[in-house]
Amino acid sequence: MMSNWFNFFIISSVHSSTFCLVTLLQVLVLLCVLISTSHAQSHAKTGPCDVTIDDVNNLTLNCSRRDIDKIPNWPEQVNNISNKDGHVLITFFSNDIRNVTQLQSVPGTRVAISFKSNRIVEIEDDAFRNIERLVYLDLSNNLISGEVLRSEIFQGTYSDGVYKSIALETLNLGHNEIHSLDRYLFQYTPNLTRLYLNNNPIEILDHVTIFALSSATNLEVLDLSNTEIDNVPTDAFKGLVNLRQIDLSGNQFVTVPESLSIVGKTLQYLTFNDNPLVELNDDSFVGLANLLELEVGENNYLEEVKRSTFSPLKSLRVLHLCHNRNLRYISHNAFRGLKDKWTLKEVYLDENNLSELSTDLMPWNKLDVLGMTGNNWLCNCDLANIVTKQEAGTKFKVGEIPYCAAPMRLSGAYVTNITVSYCPSFDSPFTQQNLRSKGFSFSDLRPKHILWSILGVASVVVIGMLCGLLVNTTKAIYRKKVRSEPIRYIHISNSSFA
Ligand SMILES: *[C@@H]1O[C@H](CO)[C@@H](O)[C@H](O)[C@H]1NC(C)=O
Ligand SMILES: *[C@@H]1O[C@H](CO)[C@@H](O)[C@H](O)[C@H]1NC(C)=O
Ligand SMILES: *[C@@H]1O[C@H](CO)[C@@H](O)[C@H](O)[C@H]1NC(C)=O
Ligand SMILES: *[C@@H]1O[C@H](CO)[C@@H](O)[C@H](O)[C@H]1NC(C)=O
Ligand SMILES: *[C@@H]1O[C@H](CO)[C@@H](O)[C@H](O)[C@H]1NC(C)=O
Ligand SMILES: *[C@@H]1O[C@H](CO)[C@@H](O)[C@H](O)[C@H]1NC(C)=O
Ligand SMILES: *[C@@H]1O[C@H](CO)[C@@H](O)[C@H](O)[C@H]1NC(C)=O
Repeated sequence: MMSNWFNFFIISSVHSSTFCLVTLLQVLVLLCVLISTSHAQSHAKTGPCDVTIDDVNNLTLNCSRRDIDKIPNWPEQVNNISNKDGHVLITFFSNDIRNVTQLQSVPGTRVAISFKSNRIVEIEDDAFRNIERLVYLDLSNNLISGEVLRSEIFQGTYSDGVYKSIALETLNLGHNEIHSLDRYLFQYTPNLTRLYLNNNPIEILDHVTIFALSSATNLEVLDLSNTEIDNVPTDAFKGLVNLRQIDLSGNQFVTVPESLSIVGKTLQYLTFNDNPLVELNDDSFVGLANLLELEVGENNYLEEVKRSTFSPLKSLRVLHLCHNRNLRYISHNAFRGLKDKWTLKEVYLDENNLSELSTDLMPWNKLDVLGMTGNNWLCNCDLANIVTKQEAGTKFKVGEIPYCAAPMRLSGAYVTNITVSYCPSFDSPFTQQNLRSKGFSFSDLRPKHILWSILGVASVVVIGMLCGLLVNTTKAIYRKKVRSEPIRYIHISNSSFA
């Protein structure tokens, strides 16, 4: 069982339900970090680390921001921690450590150690062998290269001629200098469930890296965001039979990699922000029938979501399709085949460049939450139908009611405020009287409607012409027949009129 205390420390959850605020948050976080680092540099602490003991089961050794360049010995209090269910957190956040030397033993059942934001370029063999219950290790924001990450650094105790494994479950290697992983890196960490490789110059998932990943068979969460990759080789995730969550954001993908379907049985969360995608189509999410949450945002080149794009996602509950500033078109068939067994509860379409949605895009009234802010909505009869008749207007979050951008006279009005009386009534037939009395204007007509009207008039004209032609031809044939068979004609007319 994970305590809150550990959850607090597990920082980068790959999916976040508040994605639409991410940019703002990033700016805030950046500001906070900037302010606090500058603050820390002037007030860096010296002296021993702070020890906080809640009870025998909970100890924090806080060595953050102290200009430490050598890992110190643990204070004595650490040894008082219970080996039965003790939790220990040791943090060296923001120091000058360059060399991770072998750590002294730490009691407890769950030990978390952070070396985040140091200048680590070296890790000794057997560095963690004395901490059998090390479950969380944060090495992010250092200068670690792939060569430093040898399997020997994670060796456990040595007995009977073999090295034992360590308990490591979460390993954060984000923001380092890793190009490639050692083929045997995860040999001694069989319980590894969360691996963060984000913000490393990986560029290509080469065969040794793939071998390393495939050996981490208990992996549930994999973060490969901002790693400059543009391709996931077919078998790359073959061994990841427990993978639930993956982040491929901030890379060079022009399509969603097909190789994801190899983990389609288990994958539940996919984050695919900020890639040079141009369109999503029926190939994009093939085989991901168990996906629960999908996030496709900040893809600045994404213009179109084509028919059947989401059709393979038969379990999807949350869709974030936000901040794609060139996304103009979502096919009315995008959810083709899903409407009978509808699973989606939350759909976020905020901050795109959409102006219209089809009334039959989805069963709007089955949603719990709908986000539509920050688009260029054309408040026409289709939108009124979606918002009013299909009750989409009741799904907006408080304070997140979208505005109309067009037609001019509705610009700036809430989409929930627009009157639908000028529309062809949803239930009763559309009458000429409605048109005149309720202020119908041509700006409310969509090009489609005008086109249909023109087509209607044109077909009447064409049919008329065809009829005329037919009558004339018949007459001509008739006359011809009259001339060739005069006797019979006379006979018939004789018999009928005489
Ligand atoms: C450990 O202490 C922290 C506060 O220092 C507290 O938030 C957390 O819940 C405690 N965890 C356990 C398992 O007692
Ligand atoms: C460690 O101490 C610093 C202040 O010196 C504080 O800001 C930080 O939250 C502490 N970290 C933990 C994990 O307790
Ligand atoms: C460790 O625990 C013992 C008894 O529970 C106590 O006497 C001793 O002072 C503790 N040591 C530290 C360093 O807290
Ligand atoms: C790291 O520390 C170990 C042990 O003190 C030492 O043998 C090794 O040379 C050091 N490595 C670097 C790169 O400083
Ligand atoms: C891995 O997890 C299992 C189940 O929680 C546990 O029994 C085993 O001891 C762990 N392995 C290591 C090396 O800690
Ligand atoms: C949105 O689309 C319109 C055309 O429909 C285009 O003129 C405009 O530049 C687009 N906006 C952005 C932010 O790309
Ligand atoms: C919505 O309608 C109300 C009442 O009709 C009006 O007071 C309000 O200004 C309208 N707001 C917008 C943004 O259209």
